[in-house]
Amino acid sequence: MSLPDTATPIPPIDLAAERAELGAELDQAVLRTLHSGQYVLGPEVASFERDFARLHGAEFGVGVGSGTDALIVGLKALGVGPGDGVVTSPFTFFASAGAIAWIGARPILADVEAETALLDPERVAEAIEEDTRCILPIHLYGQLADMGALRAVADEHGLALLEDAAQAHGARRDGVAPGQLGDAAAFSFYPTKNLGAAGEGGMVLTDSEETADRLRRLRDHGSTAKYRHGEIGTNTRLQAVQAGVLNVKLPYLAAWNERRRAVAAQYDSAFAGSDAVRPLARVCARGHAFHQYTVRVDAKRRDPAVDGLRAAGVFVGVHYPLPVHLQEAARVWGFGPGSLPIAEALAREVLCLPIHPFLTPDQVERVSETLLGIVAG
Ligand SMILES: Cc1ncc(COP(=O)(O)O)c(C=O)c1O
Repeated sequence: MSLPDTATPIPPIDLAAERAELGAELDQAVLRTLHSGQYVLGPEVASFERDFARLHGAEFGVGVGSGTDALIVGLKALGVGPGDGVVTSPFTFFASAGAIAWIGARPILADVEAETALLDPERVAEAIEEDTRCILPIHLYGQLADMGALRAVADEHGLALLEDAAQAHGARRDGVAPGQLGDAAAFSFYPTKNLGAAGEGGMVLTDSEETADRLRRLRDHGSTAKYRHGEIGTNTRLQAVQAGVLNVKLPYLAAWNERRRAVAAQYDSAFAGSDAVRPLARVCARGHAFHQYTVRVDAKRRDPAVDGLRAAGVFVGVHYPLPVHLQEAARVWGFGPGSLPIAEALAREVLCLPIHPFLTPDQVERVSETLLGIVAG
């Protein structure tokens, strides 16, 4: 009988296992693009744009250089510009709000739902001001925000709706995918994402031909034809080698998300009897992409739990330890400490456990038992 492995570190992602599953396919795709001589856009990108859009039931996909750029050109393509207000979440990676400020617009932060950490549609409605042009919800940790309610708020006030789907590849809520209720959805293919490139990458999905055309111009210096520029854009075109890698991985996404759900189900049953470790609420258990598996623990126990898990070789994350509005760069937006109390409480209490398609049941058991042991101590 072999002894349980209590020493090997448990990483947050396992790119080596992913590579092993993909085998020679990945190497061949990289070599194919290298030999093609078409390094920027081209057929690899076009086929990835088509297939990624199709997977989400969207008409058009426009590949760009990163998830941040997908937000930037997405906002611009929807008509957001300098001075416009954009309502978004204070509890997200900084890029969501940073992209708004980068184009000269003004982030208006509305607090999140305590149970899910997702943007709260009622607070969004209350936060709308005269100059507000857009709502930007984040599908945090792989779970969609309440797009039905947000669409209704956007329509009532004549606002655009751009989804930050950087953590929600292949996710669904009530059968609805990112991009179906919003005017557009922005994705990231950063290597740690559920669908990751071998470098940077991003995409905007939309059903509007007009928006897709504008996105294609914006990613290429506003180009309407060679050396003709109809508007000011930038250079953020998806690279062929990244699309080649993503084309290989895309057919695996559904199965990988399913395995993440199996890992989550095992964690759920381990924590079912615990008052100390409380998983965030699920609004779409079957469609959750589980980019992260996030639990809340009492604020005073959170940092010791992180330290204890790391000392035991378990690589936990805290996404995010400081909400957007308390970042130094965000001071000018005018939200001080105490102004968004739910986001602030979450930042003190959340803990993200390792979750990826290659985690074994033994590893999941080791993580949950270690955590339960620490919080009981
Ligand atoms: C919610 C969210 N929005 C935006 C981004 C930015 O994506 P990228 O790193 O590809 O620019 C990320 C990830 O990094 C993210 O998690």
